[in-house]
Amino acid sequence: MTPGNSGVNFGGFQVFGSFKKAKIKTRFGLLALRRVGMRDAAALNAIVNETPVSKFLNFPTPVPLSLTKKRIRESLASKSQEWIVAEFEGKAAGSIVLRREPGRSSHVANFGIAFSSASQGTGFAFILMNAVFAFLKKSKIRMLHANVVEDNSRARSFYRKLGFKDCGRIPLFYKRGGKYSDMVVVAKKIY
Ligand SMILES: CC(C)(COP(=O)(O)OP(=O)(O)OC[C@H]1O[C@@H](n2cnc3c(N)ncnc32)[C@H](O)[C@@H]1OP(=O)(O)O)[C@@H](O)C(=O)NCCC(=O)NCCS
Repeated sequence: MTPGNSGVNFGGFQVFGSFKKAKIKTRFGLLALRRVGMRDAAALNAIVNETPVSKFLNFPTPVPLSLTKKRIRESLASKSQEWIVAEFEGKAAGSIVLRREPGRSSHVANFGIAFSSASQGTGFAFILMNAVFAFLKKSKIRMLHANVVEDNSRARSFYRKLGFKDCGRIPLFYKRGGKYSDMVVVAKKIY
């Protein structure tokens, strides 16, 4: 039995539908959106280890390649996670990990997103997010949320442009080089 494309309850676990591969024309060339595979490990690992990217993510760097591979394996095996890659010129330019919340919040998902510095400003991340909104709707996800460090003005502006609202903040949430920053919760109603 496969989950199909409607986000069903599968043996007690909420399941995402499978993300259908898409090819989108951009002014730079074709962008492919597809489920992550083990072949993406090296490119995705390089992205999370770029300083302008990692400073806004909540895990210690350097992230070893073995850990990225492990995360991809776990994600592919998980019924409540969908990791989608935006591939440009044969290589992952960025990706988003969607995680369905459990129990009474199974109509809600959270996410983490990261694009290489080289692909930021191309519109690739924006295209990916809009495809994700359509996919989430099919998977019966009504609300999408993320945590953003307050000084990540680029991501905050990106989320605003996509219709996310700031819903509150938790002080002292991030510590970088001895300095604390607030975490801002952003959320968007999908339908
Ligand atoms: C967040 C991310 C996916 C957005 O993708 P992107 O390609 O950079 O997004 P865009 O360029 O489409 O949009 C960024 C917006 O911020 C604006 N912007 C760019 N640099 C900025 C800055 N330093 N301060 C404020 N706004 C900025 C851009 O002008 C753009 O808005 P506009 O389209 O209205 O002009 C990408 O920047 C990224 O991967 N960042 C590193 C990891 C990260 O922060 N992840 C999110 C963690 S919550």
